[in-house]
Amino acid sequence: MRQHRTPRLLCTLLLVAAASISVVGAAPPTADKTVTPLGQVIPAPASVQAHGTPYRISTDTRIRVEDSSEVRKVGEYLADILRPSTGYRLPVTPSAHGQGGIQLRLGAKGLGAEGYRLDSGRSGITITAAEPAGLFYGVQTLRQLLPASVEEDSTQPGPWLVAGGTIEDSPRYAYRGVMLDVARHFFTVDQVKRFIDEMALYKVNELHLHLSDDQGWRIAIDSWPQLATYGGSTQVGGGQGGYYTKAQYKEIVRYASSRHLEVVPEIDMPGHTNAALASYPELNCDGVAPPLYTGTDVGFSSLCVSKDVTYDFADDVIRELAAITPGEYIHIGGDEAHSTPHADYLAFMERVQPIVAKYGKTVVGWHQLAGASPAPGALLQYWGLDGTDPAEKEQVAAAAQDGAGVILSPADRTYLDMKYDKDTPLGQDWAGFVEVQRAYDWDPGNYLAGVPGSAVKGVEAPLWSETLVTSADIDYMVFPRLPGVAELGWSPASTHDWDTYKVRLAAQAPRWDALGVGYYKSPQVPWTTE
Ligand code: ACM
Repeated sequence: MRQHRTPRLLCTLLLVAAASISVVGAAPPTADKTVTPLGQVIPAPASVQAHGTPYRISTDTRIRVEDSSEVRKVGEYLADILRPSTGYRLPVTPSAHGQGGIQLRLGAKGLGAEGYRLDSGRSGITITAAEPAGLFYGVQTLRQLLPASVEEDSTQPGPWLVAGGTIEDSPRYAYRGVMLDVARHFFTVDQVKRFIDEMALYKVNELHLHLSDDQGWRIAIDSWPQLATYGGSTQVGGGQGGYYTKAQYKEIVRYASSRHLEVVPEIDMPGHTNAALASYPELNCDGVAPPLYTGTDVGFSSLCVSKDVTYDFADDVIRELAAITPGEYIHIGGDEAHSTPHADYLAFMERVQPIVAKYGKTVVGWHQLAGASPAPGALLQYWGLDGTDPAEKEQVAAAAQDGAGVILSPADRTYLDMKYDKDTPLGQDWAGFVEVQRAYDWDPGNYLAGVPGSAVKGVEAPLWSETLVTSADIDYMVFPRLPGVAELGWSPASTHDWDTYKVRLAAQAPRWDALGVGYYKSPQVPWTTE
C-alpha cells in the first residue's frame, strides 16, 4: 500500500488556514468526541470563545431560574427536553436557592431583545439575556452543544458534557421566518406544532401561515361561515381538506408563542380566492359561484373589485383575524393577480391596506404590492428569481427607498418546495432546482440591487404544499435546507462560509435522527452517519 505523508510545513499551513476560516475558530481541537466544540451550532453564533473545562449535567443538576413566570417557562421547556434522555429530575427552582447548575437570568446588556450570553465551565452554565426570548435562544444553543442523543425520548447513557467557554450572540435580522401553506393541503394543529418545534431549534421567530387560496379556506370567520365549512371542504387532489376553528387557531398562536414564534396569518387577495368565490356568489362580479377547485393552476380567480360587498368581506375577515392574532402583521397576499386588471389591483390595495391599519396591524404583501402604493410601514415579501424582470426588481427597490421594508424569499434560493435535483420525488421545479448550497450561499444584505441594507428586515423560507401531504413530506423538503436560511437570518455576514457551514450542517443529522425527522441526504454535505 502506498503511504502518503503530508510534509510538516503543509500540515501547519493547513491547521492555520482551518483555524482562521472556522466560525468555531476559538474552539481548540478536542480529542474528546463526547464534547461538541463550542460554536458547532446552527445558526452560527456571533462570538465564540472556548476556554476552561466542560460542564457536566448530572443527576443532581438543577435548572435555576430568575423569579419570573416567563423565565420559568423557558426553564421548564429546557427541562422537558433534557429529562427523558438524561433520566435526571432536573428540578426548575428559583435562582436565589444556591449556585451552580444551569442558570437562566435576565439582565444582560447590549445584546438586544433577542440576544443572549452563555457561559459554561466546571461549576455550571449561565445564560443571561435582556428578555425571555434571548434565554430561549440561548437554550437552543445549549441544546445543540449537548450530544444529539439528548433529543431521544428514552434514557440514554450520556455523558452530558457542554464545552467550556463563552458565547455572545444576537440576530442579524428581526424577521426570521418560515411559511407553511395549509391551503393547498391542509395540516392539522398537531402537524403545525411539530413544524413549530422544528423551526424553534434554528431560532426562527415568524410563522407565516398561508391560510387561503384557490383550493381551500382554512380559518373560521364567524360573519362568513361558509368560507371555512364549504370553502375549506377540499384540497389539491380532492381530499377532504379542513380548517382551523378559532380555538384551534388560538392554540397554534399560543404554542408558537411558547417557542417565541409570532404567527403571521395570510389571506391572499384579490387573486388566489377561488375558495372564497365558491363559498359566496355575491363576491363574484357575475353573482355566480364557481365550483370548488382541486387542481394546481394559478392566476385564474379574482375578487370583484367594483363591488362594495368585497370590502365588507375584507373588513370582516381582517377584523376577525386581527382579533385572534396578537402579532404585528397581517399578510394580504397580492401575488399572481393575473385575472385582476391592473387598475383594479391598485384600487383594491388602496381600499384594503387601510383596513389592516384600522385593526391595528401592519401590512405584509408579496412584492407585487410594490406596483401599488404600499401602506406606510408595509413589508414587501420578495419572491422573484435571478431571471425576474429587472423592472419588477426596480419597483421593489423604489418602494424600499420610499420606506417599505423587504423580506427576502427569492424562490430560487428559499422556496422549500423546489426540488433539490431532477430526482427529488416531491416538490416543483418552476424556479429551478435548489440544492443545499444554493439555499445557503447568498447574502440577504446585498441581494437586491437598490434596496438599502436598512430596508431588509429579514428572510423567510416558504413551503408551498401542492405536492406535500404528510409531515414526512414536509420534513424531507425542509431538511437540510431550512437551517441554512435560518442562519442567513440570524448570523453575522462575517460567519458566512459554505465550507465550514456544511460541516456544522452534517453534525445536525444525528439530532434529526434522534428527533425522528427525515431529511434529504444531499451529496453536497459531508454526512458522518450512515
Ligand atoms: C408565490 O409564490 N406566488 C408568492
